[in-house]
Amino acid sequence: MNAVEIEEAISRLAEQPFVPAEFPYAFLEAFGNKATTINRLKSGNTNKTDIEGAVLQYNNIHIATCSAGKVAEMLEKLRNSPATSRQKAKFILVTDGEEFQAEDIASGETVACTYQEFPDHFGFFLPLAGISTVKQISENAFDIRATSRLNRLYVELLKDNPDWGSAHRRPDMNHFMARLIFCFFAEDTDIFNGTGLFTDTIAQMSAKDSSNTHEVIGEIFRAMNTKIEDRAAAKLPRWADAFPYVNGGLFSGSTETPRFSKIARSYLLHVGSLDWKKINPDIFGSMIQAVAEDEERGALGMHYTSVPNILKVLNPLFLDDLCAKLEEAGDNPRTLLNLRKRMARIRVFDPACGSGNFLVIAYKEMRAIEAEINKRRGEADILTEIPLTNFRGIELRDFPAEIARLALIIAEYQCDVLYRGQKLALMEFLPLETQNWITCGNALRLDWLSVCPSTGTGVKLYSDDLFNTPLEQAQIDFENEGGETYICGNPPYIGRRNQSKEQKDEIKNLLSKKIKSSASLDYVFCWIEKASEYVTQSCGEFAFVTTNSVSQGTQIPIYWPYLLSKGLEINFAHRSFKWSNNASDNAGVTCVILGIGLPRSRKLIFDGDQQTEVKFINPYLLPSEVQVVETRNAPLSPIGKMRYGNLPGDGNHLTLNRQERDTLLAITPALQRIILPLYGAQEFIRGLQRYCLWIDDSDLELALGNEFIQKRIEKVRQTRLDSPDPSYNALIGRPHQFRDRNIAENITIIAPTICSENRKYLPTATYQGKTGTTNQVYALYDAPLWNMALIASRLHLVWIATVCGKLKTDFRYSNTLGWNTFPVPTLTEKNKADLTRCAEDILLAREEHFPATIAELYDPEKMPENLRHAHERNDEVLERIYIGRRFKNDTERLEKLFELYIKMTATKGKIS
Ligand SMILES: C[S@@+](CC[C@H](N)C(=O)[O-])C[C@H]1O[C@@H](n2cnc3c(N)ncnc32)[C@H](O)[C@@H]1O
Repeated sequence: MNAVEIEEAISRLAEQPFVPAEFPYAFLEAFGNKATTINRLKSGNTNKTDIEGAVLQYNNIHIATCSAGKVAEMLEKLRNSPATSRQKAKFILVTDGEEFQAEDIASGETVACTYQEFPDHFGFFLPLAGISTVKQISENAFDIRATSRLNRLYVELLKDNPDWGSAHRRPDMNHFMARLIFCFFAEDTDIFNGTGLFTDTIAQMSAKDSSNTHEVIGEIFRAMNTKIEDRAAAKLPRWADAFPYVNGGLFSGSTETPRFSKIARSYLLHVGSLDWKKINPDIFGSMIQAVAEDEERGALGMHYTSVPNILKVLNPLFLDDLCAKLEEAGDNPRTLLNLRKRMARIRVFDPACGSGNFLVIAYKEMRAIEAEINKRRGEADILTEIPLTNFRGIELRDFPAEIARLALIIAEYQCDVLYRGQKLALMEFLPLETQNWITCGNALRLDWLSVCPSTGTGVKLYSDDLFNTPLEQAQIDFENEGGETYICGNPPYIGRRNQSKEQKDEIKNLLSKKIKSSASLDYVFCWIEKASEYVTQSCGEFAFVTTNSVSQGTQIPIYWPYLLSKGLEINFAHRSFKWSNNASDNAGVTCVILGIGLPRSRKLIFDGDQQTEVKFINPYLLPSEVQVVETRNAPLSPIGKMRYGNLPGDGNHLTLNRQERDTLLAITPALQRIILPLYGAQEFIRGLQRYCLWIDDSDLELALGNEFIQKRIEKVRQTRLDSPDPSYNALIGRPHQFRDRNIAENITIIAPTICSENRKYLPTATYQGKTGTTNQVYALYDAPLWNMALIASRLHLVWIATVCGKLKTDFRYSNTLGWNTFPVPTLTEKNKADLTRCAEDILLAREEHFPATIAELYDPEKMPENLRHAHERNDEVLERIYIGRRFKNDTERLEKLFELYIKMTATKGKIS
């Protein structure tokens, strides 16, 4: 369960009649305990309490109900109960149905409220549901509650008005929700006269059976779309006339309102009773947009981008600089004024803005800086010079686009209240701006320079009815001579396999004429490309959050040389980090942040909390001059030659299972010579047994002497003949053989083509004697054993992860890109002997666990101690060869490898 669902569940519980004996179980159920867990508690099996009638769940909570007025007394009893500490309860909780008290045992924090109010404290109990981002959630408790309530209303309205759920009417439904949200906010913040005007009017004027709720709301909306001077003619009912003129596009067009059932009406009144002053437009916007998406509704926006993550983008992009300038300015009024003027011309542009969270945060942060300037200049309450219209966005979906604009409007009002006071804030708030600065459309088909021109002349579009104007067009253009533009956001990443046909076409349109193999790129490169075009034409910079796939592996040689050729550089970067959010699964993706523009003198790499100033940042996000590691046909270092295993091209007719092989050998032992064990990925990792017919021409007669083998060879011939692939047809002359013929006489060292990211080491293995390999593996044929020590090392794994990248969550191995480029210092005979010993020790350690498979041995949870130790030793020996000691971390490993790579390619040439 996520936080919104929990909030919903406990709100429902608080609305129901209080049943003392049932309350503890219902409470635990609301926090996600399964029916079986509850049943076991009820039967007493897992109820560890030592107080009659109470419920104690191990390592969780001790709950009791009591008679009226005895709450404090009972809480004391729970606190002192030996079972509470013995069973490691984290919370104690008591209620009599009137009063509610609880305590967090570790922190001593308490909650004391009425029973009806306890859902307000849902954040306090979230650790019970295993949700660890409790602090963030408690800070956003209002947004979670509001989302949960609006979600209930939305679902109920769709039930009552199924046609409003159709693709055609959905935008009306979404628009209706946006209007509601505005009204709830306005009635709690004095934008409407008095407090609660909207909700109270509906409660009073609409019938309790809900039959005319839609009409009442429709009239209120009509009022908000009618200018004061037109009111008399509009013949509004007196109660609707109390509402101000708002429009700004929000109340234009149809005032049609969905019909309300009694339940929907009560939900509406319930949402209205919340204190909307507390809304965080950034968080709330991201959450509420999920309500309108059927497939997203389950997650209820808990995947939203957290504010600290957004600041990781905005701070180094431009906010840090503004703060530094503020600091430098001190109290100098002229310098402060210049800074304020500069800020008034800064545009922030998010070309995949969703509900505008990056824009809202940027706006709020800039207003805070401006407020400080104004304070220092003694002008605390002057009107802001930062126009909301400088915070521009493009968003594909209509609801988030609408919410983005609303979120910015709310943010502006809140900032005005905060910095200038309620009275002044109100004076300028209504009617709303009639310009639209959030464009609803496809960012990849729009000209960004016209949506957000760096300089410009006048406004192209003013309208009272922005929702009936085609939005997919460049609409506004404000004077911004000498201004700066910062592009930011979190555009859709979408790897090649998950792209729709249109998305693939968009990549093709945008990139195929500029670079080769553009079809292999993630969708997000389109935003990187458009942003880089933008900043080369205007003075600006951009920073995006993206998956770390853009800074690893095969995408780098495809795109980055082109970007760098424009004279742009990576000015700051956040290395891989988990993009955490408030989802209860909180898996997140691994992301990086790239800040790109014309070269800055100070470049910064962020790694967790650490910040390092560097001279270069390359596309692998390392402080190295190496821009791109390119594939090589031969190893850069004096190491073995690695080739693919063998493509059989045999329709599986040259492969045998264990039984087939045993039967053949039982009849004709001489066939031993032409039946070899066969290793592909599964055989090598999972220990499966497979064999192949490996027939040299000189053994053909022996093979054809066996009827079974003869038939198999004939089937291969037929398969190749029937194949539509001419390269297979060309092989019919030697149907007794795999297409490829790579084989060792003595030793085969195998490397995987892919490897799970969870493993600490790349799995590798050696096989003695003649051994068949398939194209599911790479192999070194008759190379010295010390080569295995290299493949098995942490150094090699980090090189592969960085240079070859990933396929989904697996490392993708490549001989040409990963092995042939791997920089190894010149190895002395002693080094080689030491590494050989290390490889032998790894093999011996595995041997002790025979018949455990590689998959079992390298399971990160279960890796045997002796094997772990053998690998540690291997890393120790190899790393000493590189730098005379162990590396401190993977970053240091990579930095050294890239340094060596530069040296070695300088002497050997970049590509061979
Ligand atoms: C990862 S979300 C980020 C939104 C927001 N910043 C957040 O953190 O929630 C990406 C957004 O890009 C929008 N989007 C996807 N393709 C788009 C396109 N071609 N043009 C404009 N927006 C697009 C999606 O609808 C989504 O709102």
